[in-house]
Order: sequence, then structure tokens, then C-alpha cells
Amino acid sequence: MQIQENISLKPLNSFGIDVRARYFSAFDDIDQLEEILSPGRQWPASPLILGGGSNILFTKDVEGLVLKNNIKGIAVIHEDAEHVYVKAGAGENWHQFVQYCIGRNWAGLENLSLIPGNVGASPMQNIGAYGVELRDVFLDLEAFHIGEKRICTFTNFDCEFGYRDSVFKKKYKDQFVIINVTFRLRKRPILHTSYGSLEQELDRMGVTQPDIRSVAQAVINIRSSKLPDPKKIGNAGSFFKNPEVALPVFEALKNRFPGIVGYPLDNGNVKLAAGWLIEQCGWKGYRKGDAGCHDRQALVLVNYGNARGADILQLSQEIQASVLQQFSVTLNTEVNIF
Ligand code: EPU
Repeated sequence: MQIQENISLKPLNSFGIDVRARYFSAFDDIDQLEEILSPGRQWPASPLILGGGSNILFTKDVEGLVLKNNIKGIAVIHEDAEHVYVKAGAGENWHQFVQYCIGRNWAGLENLSLIPGNVGASPMQNIGAYGVELRDVFLDLEAFHIGEKRICTFTNFDCEFGYRDSVFKKKYKDQFVIINVTFRLRKRPILHTSYGSLEQELDRMGVTQPDIRSVAQAVINIRSSKLPDPKKIGNAGSFFKNPEVALPVFEALKNRFPGIVGYPLDNGNVKLAAGWLIEQCGWKGYRKGDAGCHDRQALVLVNYGNARGADILQLSQEIQASVLQQFSVTLNTEVNIF
């Protein structure tokens, strides 16, 4: 197993932040992972596992070991009249996997097209877009327990999925390496097209009878028009979560700010569009040095070239402070900060 020393992580994180890893290695299977983590080897700290690096902001060098998960493979493990059960290696690129499934008429992932990152990260934060979340199509996953050196299976229930949340961001943070994920996809699609901009885009495309291909294309069109391509401008998608407030709080805010955007939730609360709050505070399109707030989606912070993680972090804190001051609403980060 080759261990590299002092390598730049710039090509390995979608923000394009130039920090260094003291030690770095990649693994293609569990045996290689076990070998790197074997008791004979000593590392300064517990390893940092990188997938696609598309949901992390590095603010400092990593003094320990960074491990890149390159576990590949896609296989149908079971089929019944309604469903296909597809297992994908954690190191598979997410969007390529989505396209692979759409190409075989397996439905369920089309709304999740073009999300950056790898399959292994998808359950960590229960990725979601245009009315669909990962948990809607997730069957189970296998993960390697770093401390106990054994493989565990997590069902949908075990993952405790929430809005951009799971056990892997909370009680099991940094304890497991996700090895593969199994999805339950439909042979006969149930399309989700009611998300506002999705309906509009399908109309614009002249689609009257949508199928999984046209829905995927509509999602790709919307994402490409609003969200910066990480290959061109460093970013990690939405930097903050959309905050949830109680209904009376929303009503009071609505009285003061009639244009406020909020969506009622099943639990009686209201989810606010953080992008709207940030835009109202004047941040949309703001740039200081190479750190900025995207000019077409204020929820996305960007690195125009050589921003440091600390510059992006500082900008994010200034945004949080102004939203708190103007609306008395706390914004929490969606991106993991290292
Ligand atoms: N809005 C503004 N100004 C902005 C951005 C948004 O006023 O600068 C308003 C829009 O007018 C719209 C509302 O906010 O009414 C919602 O905007 P959008 O549809 O772009 O979605 P979002 O709530 O900002 C969430 C996800 C995205 C996901 C989209 C579509 C979070 C944190 N973000 O964004 O996910 O693509 O919905 O489903 O939930 C990601 O997680 O990285 C991500 C990009």
C-alpha cells in the first residue's frame, strides 16, 4: 500500500482549497483499507475519509492521514415485480451512477441528477433535490467500523435520516467508512415533478408527458443555470441548510417581510429559503478577494481561485451574523468544516 506524504488536497476538494495532507493514500477495496488501518501502523490522528470532496471546507492542513475511498462496482443484487435492488461502491461518481440507472430504466434517482460527489457520501447527508431525498430510494449500506475493524449493515431506519442529516454526521461521526450503498429503484416510475422550478422547466422544454429522462434533463438544466460548476468555480453546493422555524415565528416574519419564502413542513414548522434571506442582506454576488457569494444562488459560497478556507469561513460567519441581525434566524452550515 503506497502512502504519500505532504500532498496537496487542492484537486481532491470541490472548493479547490490548497491545504496539505501529512499522509495520503487511496483504497480500492476493504482489504486495502484494513491493511492501512492495521494495528501495526501508527497514525497521528484518526483518518479523514474523502469521497468526492464535494461537501467539505478545509481551513487547515491535515496533520494525520487522509484516505480516498475508490471502491467501485455496480451490481443488481435482487429483483422483484416492482423493484430492482442495485448495489454501488462508495467510490462511484454519483452522477455517473444516476445516469447508469436511468439508462437501464431504473427509476427513482432522476431528481438527484448532477449532484457532485460520490455514492458513499450520499447517505451521510441524505442528499436531496427537487422534492426527492436519498432516503426515498435507500435500502441499506455496508460500512467498516474503524475502531472495531468490522463491517456493519445499516438499514434505512438505522441511518436516522433527517434533512441533510444522518447518524454519520452525528453519533457515528468519523467512526465508519461507507463501503457500498444499495438502492431500491422502481421498474415503473413514480415521477416527482411538483417542485416549482421543475414544472416550469418541463414546460419550457415542451414536455407534456414527462419520463425519467426528461425529468433528469430538466433537473440538469436548472442546476446548470443556477449552480456553479465546481470544475470551473470552486464550491460545495449549498453552504447552509434552509432553517426551520415555528409557524408563529414565520407569520411574524411574513408581516415584516411579505416577500419571505417559506415551505410548510409536516411537523407544523416552516422551512425558510436561506438563499432569500442571504440575498435580502445584500450578499448575492458579493466578492472579497477570491471568496464570494454566488451571483445566481446566494446559498452557495464560491472560491474564484486562490481563496483560503479561512476566507470562505469568515465570509460565511459574516453572512450568518447579518441574517441573524436582520431576521433573528440562525443559519447552520451544511458543508463539513475541517
Ligand atoms: N432564493 C432567493 N435567492 C437566492 C436563492 C434562492 O430568493 O439567491 C429563493 C428562490 O426564489 C426560491 C427559493 O429560494 O423561491 C428556493 O430556491 P432553490 O429552488 O434554488 O432551492 P434552495 O432551497 O435554495 C435547496 C437545496 C439544494 C437543492 C435545491 C432544489 C438546501 C440547503 N439546498 O436549495 O441543494 O438543489 O433546494 O431542491 O436544502 C445542496 O444541498 O448542495 C443543494 C444545492
